[in-house]
Amino acid sequence: MNTISEIHGCGSYLPKNFITNDELAEIIDTSDEWITTRTGIKQRHVAEKSEMTSDLACEAAKNALEDAKIKASDVDLVIVGTTTPDDTFPATAVKVQSRLAIKGGAAFDIQAACSGFIYALSVADNMLRTGQIDTALVVGADTLTKLLDWKDRTTCTLFGDGAGAVVMQGKKINNVKNPSGILSTHLHSDGNLRHILYCENNLAEFNSRRSIKMEGPELFRHAVTNLSSVALEALRVNNLSASDIDWLVPHQANKRIIDRTAKKLKLSDKKIVLTIANHANTSAASIPLALDVAVKDGRIKKGDLLLMDAMGGGLTWGAALVRW
Ligand code: UT7
Repeated sequence: MNTISEIHGCGSYLPKNFITNDELAEIIDTSDEWITTRTGIKQRHVAEKSEMTSDLACEAAKNALEDAKIKASDVDLVIVGTTTPDDTFPATAVKVQSRLAIKGGAAFDIQAACSGFIYALSVADNMLRTGQIDTALVVGADTLTKLLDWKDRTTCTLFGDGAGAVVMQGKKINNVKNPSGILSTHLHSDGNLRHILYCENNLAEFNSRRSIKMEGPELFRHAVTNLSSVALEALRVNNLSASDIDWLVPHQANKRIIDRTAKKLKLSDKKIVLTIANHANTSAASIPLALDVAVKDGRIKKGDLLLMDAMGGGLTWGAALVRW
């Protein structure tokens, strides 16, 4: 008998403070018109100085557990996909484990930049399918605004803070037609493209604060190519075609990247979950945030086929096909 992993509930959290494009245009040389037409972003949520990634992650995790109707004490795996952990070590995941009073099991972070949620989902899916664990809490959480140079208009206009989470369990399937759950996950990386998007952490220089550096147009080209290719890979492995997809739940880096990827797949824009206008690019949080929005507003329904895809620093990229 085969085992498949299933998402039982999702949740998300955004910091209360947000900054609109017009407010940004008061402090740097940019405009609402430029940001909106080039990216689709209208505003971004920004964590308080004292509000850390773990704070956002815990709120999203609590919401997901409530939604799944699963007790924290049942969780035996916590993974947090994040590039902005509270501390170098221990992992943000062990803070979440402790604050939610989860006893036992394993907790660790995954650092795959904006692909962090897909990477974390993939690891949890494999551990559930092999029976190594029973219940996984998978979180994507980032406070990338803490890594921004607020004088650099080419980066500070793009990112926001947030967290999203899902609760997953394995279930046995025996000749069940179209079972709900994770159908497959696909991960890739290319370390030769590190220079396109990075944030140095020079341990040789104590206390030296670094900010995000990005070659936007080059990243844009790689994003469209890699995201469409990993999407097709996921469909091919499952003998499905793009017309079978009910919802594309993409990483929200740039509306133009999402539109071009969808166009390559010949996917109607009515099938795209877009949250970039309100959330901006929340890195590892963007997919579970978008998922939570579309599940809670009733767009995503039981039995729908979802394609999630992401690309980020590394470069890393990946996709997951999920039957809801
Ligand atoms: O989540 C990780 C993955 N991230 C991504 O995939 C991001 C991928 N890249 C992008 O989304 C886009 O490349 C950006 C949104 C970053 C930039 O858009 P673009 O259309 O590629 O613009 P560009 O970098 O080619 O810049 C065009 C012009 C430049 O001015 P000149 O040289 O033509 O005079 C920039 O200096 O726009 C200028 N510019 C801005 N102007 C106003 C760049 N940023 C801004 C800004 N406001 N915020």
